[in-house]
Amino acid sequence: MIRKHVFKWVIVSVVMAGFVGCTGTPEKKTLSVEQKIDSLLTEMTLEEKVTMIHANASFTTGAVPRLGIPEWTMSDGPHGVRKEHGRGWVGSESPEYFATYLPVGVSLASTWNPELGYTFGQVLGEEARYRGKDVILGPGINILRTPLNGRNFEYMSEDPYLISKMVVGYIKGVQDQNVAACVKHYLANNQETDRNTVSVEMSERTLREIYLPGFAAAVKDGGVYTLMGAYNKFRGQYCTHHEYLINKVLKDELGFEGAVISDWGAVHNTLEALKFGTDVEMGTDLSQGDKKDYTKFFMGDTVISLVKSGTISESLINDKVRRILRVMYKTNVIGGEKRMEGSFNTPEHQAAALKIAEEAIVLLKNEGNLLPLNKSMLKNVAVIGANASRKQGGGGGSSQVNAKYEITPLQGIEKVLFENVEVTYAEGYEVTRNAKINTDKIKEAAEAAKNADASILVCGWVHGYTDLWNDNAYDAESVDKPNMFLPFGQDELINAVLKVNPNTIIVIMGGGPVDMTRWESKAKAIVFAGYPGMEGGTAIARVIFGDVNPSGKLTMTFPKRLEDSPAHAIGEYPGKDNVVYYNEGIMVGYRYFDTKKVEPQFPFGHGLSYTTFLYENLQLTKGDNQSVIATVTVRNTGSRPGAEVMQLYVKDVESSVERPDKELKGFQKVFLQPGESKDIILTLSVDAFRFFDEKKMEWVLEPGKFQVMAGSSSRDIRLTKEIEL
Ligand code: GLC
Repeated sequence: MIRKHVFKWVIVSVVMAGFVGCTGTPEKKTLSVEQKIDSLLTEMTLEEKVTMIHANASFTTGAVPRLGIPEWTMSDGPHGVRKEHGRGWVGSESPEYFATYLPVGVSLASTWNPELGYTFGQVLGEEARYRGKDVILGPGINILRTPLNGRNFEYMSEDPYLISKMVVGYIKGVQDQNVAACVKHYLANNQETDRNTVSVEMSERTLREIYLPGFAAAVKDGGVYTLMGAYNKFRGQYCTHHEYLINKVLKDELGFEGAVISDWGAVHNTLEALKFGTDVEMGTDLSQGDKKDYTKFFMGDTVISLVKSGTISESLINDKVRRILRVMYKTNVIGGEKRMEGSFNTPEHQAAALKIAEEAIVLLKNEGNLLPLNKSMLKNVAVIGANASRKQGGGGGSSQVNAKYEITPLQGIEKVLFENVEVTYAEGYEVTRNAKINTDKIKEAAEAAKNADASILVCGWVHGYTDLWNDNAYDAESVDKPNMFLPFGQDELINAVLKVNPNTIIVIMGGGPVDMTRWESKAKAIVFAGYPGMEGGTAIARVIFGDVNPSGKLTMTFPKRLEDSPAHAIGEYPGKDNVVYYNEGIMVGYRYFDTKKVEPQFPFGHGLSYTTFLYENLQLTKGDNQSVIATVTVRNTGSRPGAEVMQLYVKDVESSVERPDKELKGFQKVFLQPGESKDIILTLSVDAFRFFDEKKMEWVLEPGKFQVMAGSSSRDIRLTKEIEL
């Protein structure tokens, strides 16, 4: 090791000598960041280095004041800056920290608008900067493998291509504010059940085609500065210190130069953490309550003795510190460059939250064009459902946000209606532990609906609260759902209300699909609102009353019933004896439903509009490097402005391995005035046609015919063309 240091000094002195030689006096050469890091590392003691690679409080790592290196400060979460935890584990409820509560990941992705991804990241980054955070612990991008995963809301989609496009803007938006994004949870953290112990088993092709691409895009296209290792194991080894996933795939193959931060308590072994890629250990539970002795972490003092005894090389520690310092320089935590100020709870942030929410809402069904409602024709409106008046932001687990305010659907509806319209509210069901059917509340709700000109029922999941986490009928971290049925007797409520008022609008809130087979056929209008954030109620009301033309599209398949979902039909969930086999392999979501011809309730990419769109003239031409240029014209053939997400799917007509019936490989959202049309031109690189050959361990293009399909959803294909590659 001495050799290494000497060698380094030789370089540095030659460089300096060169300077002195040509200028006579050593000018201050603008050293590169790497050279600055080199010199910091040579000045740091081993103890100082080790203090930087593990937590010294709930959300910070150690400083080296002597060298001007501050603590590194982190905060949740993916859709808003979490309440202030300070150095402890009980966050402050003080209003001074109430923040902008953005729509959750699934809602952002439902916009299919990468530009809004950037806007989202910019807001989150500005608020994190303002709150003095150096790292914001988001985006969460785990694949929505099962409808039961308690954290689906926090993620984006079942499709890796959509994730790859939506994650990039988010990361750049955050990082342009001098805050590091932290893409998570790497990887295959697709269930909360046994999340700390389960080992995920999947084929290499499944890894490469489904579970890795979102993270690869975050690193290569998004330039993400940090990444969070997942709790679970992968092929028997903990993800957070994983020789294949982190050393080989992430740092070698993908060239990730940032820092791998463990999930809180995800480090289990000192030597593995040191050798297999953990750069920062956070949240290890030493069961010492708030008074944790952080030096006892796996990557704490033990490391000092391991280096001093020669068991491990100090170069391992240097690389970790280098990665942290690299991010600190990039975000102006050190280096002396002026740092962005950030901003908090501004009107612009709240306007962005509304815009994203408006574009996130998905119109699933609209029989007889029941929607939009014409508010000038209404005298009284019934609003039903506990979710109509419930604030959701504070729930969900670590992604919780204490919102500056949160407009509930009921408040949103009251706000957009004219003064003279009477609004009657009926809760319809109770959100309490194991609550069942409440016949009194159902009767009250039916009464309200019967006597109203319009009736809007807001149902769905709720963002779990700590006290309710154990009752796993909620969208929350650390628990999965028991099934896909709506809890609290909501099915009975919906049926009772539809019986007396069949024109009731059903609005579903939540992070993913519900089993609606008990009432869907009786409902004329159904809206999926996700968790649309602090302005969600406003957005829902503006869609219902036509001030906004909905343009959201589903980012995950809504199965009719749980057993139709591939993870449950052919895969394993939640696994047994702490192993879960992803037997469905690449057949995740619509890849399964379309290939195996299983009818979904609502398909991936589905979302209706108040206007209509015509697809014309799909053309395919060959481009460079075996790419294909697809052009298609989309026209607004209705009477009002609207936005359409044109989706491009690819199918390999004949292949030596089983390939999905279609795979999303391009999309574009276009905003069109009535009668207006736009020619969309998308280049499908050769990657769009390849599959991962796990024998050759490389991506392979098998020559032959391919179909390219342009559609309004995975099941609403408007035009198809074939091309020979
Ligand atoms: C949690 C979550 C992770 C979060 C971290 C810090 O357990 O899994 O997403 O960022 O711990 O709260």
